[in-house]
Amino acid sequence: MRNEIEIVLTGIKPTGKVHVGNYIGAIKPALQIASAGTSTALYFIADYHGLTFIQNRSEFRDLSYGIAATWLALGLDPEKVIIYRQSDVPEIFELSWILSCLTPKGLMNRAHAYKAIADKNEQLGVEPDTGVNIGLFTYPVLMAADILLFQSDRVPVGKDQIQHIEIARDIAEAFNRNYGDTFKLPGYIVDEQTSVIPGLDGRKMSKSYANTIPLFESEGELKKLINKIKTDSTPPNEPKDPATSTIFLLYSEFASQEQIEQFRAKFREGISWGEAKQELFHVMNTYLEGPRKRYNELMAAPEQIDRILSEGAKKARAMAAPMLEKVKSRIGRYR
Ligand code: ADP
Ligand code: TRP
Repeated sequence: MRNEIEIVLTGIKPTGKVHVGNYIGAIKPALQIASAGTSTALYFIADYHGLTFIQNRSEFRDLSYGIAATWLALGLDPEKVIIYRQSDVPEIFELSWILSCLTPKGLMNRAHAYKAIADKNEQLGVEPDTGVNIGLFTYPVLMAADILLFQSDRVPVGKDQIQHIEIARDIAEAFNRNYGDTFKLPGYIVDEQTSVIPGLDGRKMSKSYANTIPLFESEGELKKLINKIKTDSTPPNEPKDPATSTIFLLYSEFASQEQIEQFRAKFREGISWGEAKQELFHVMNTYLEGPRKRYNELMAAPEQIDRILSEGAKKARAMAAPMLEKVKSRIGRYR
């Protein structure tokens, strides 16, 4: 067991432009794992998860390509990792159905994406399920299928996704208990330090709060957004606390160790917020320039993305098909 190559898998749902919080919280740690080269790494666009929210045709298409282009632009090498689109792997959806039959409904009632909407509806005094589709309700089952089908050992995610990984473990355990040891129980990888990246207004950066810095915004737009980052009222020339500053936190994600130390010293000396923002813009822009260019090139050539994704789907299906057969045999589908 121990000398088997570890399987690391993660997905991103295309429900908005990829922002700096997604990058730092989910993409960067996953890329680091890929570059270590010590595991089989699978990265996918969770497009059918996205469909629970995005039901506009062109938006759905563009956001899906956007995720793929983001991965590729940031240096994910399709020769070294498996990159695919969820909807190109039908085995996932068959497994999802099988798993849903072993999933207590109560487990879904407690899943946070659904619960958040139900609680809000209750506060508003409307029927709790208003605006909830069945796809959204059973979303964690599909996510369990994504993970379990590939016998994933570890799943890099942001903190808010831990509950979903735990649900995947619960479902795997229920299956294993009933049909014998079949699924590996997945673990998660969460970077505690960067688990909640603040947005422009200081709350968690999230498309739901419209406070994001999209990763591949144009240079001009990036500058504008950085200027909007909320700061406290410490006057220029007075020392500032790096530990509580969004500007400092973002800076440290894009700068070298040496730059970070220099920036820290400037905070102590009393850099003005305006200057600090300029320096942040400079490091972010330098870091993102190359990937932004590749991103735009890829988005202009979706057929290139399609080719890469369909190659990836072949590899993913080659792993998925035998596992699904095993599951079907376990449930008694075969003699
Ligand atoms: P959003 O909150 O904008 O809707 P998603 O829920 O689509 O973002 O998140 C995609 C991935 O990025 C998840 O793994 C999530 O945990 C991570 N993530 C999102 N926002 C942040 C943030 N502000 N800080 C750290 N990680 C984040
Ligand atoms: N639910 C995840 C999110 O909202 C996306 C996702 C779908 C995922 N399937 C996954 C992440 C499997 C990791 C593994 O961000």
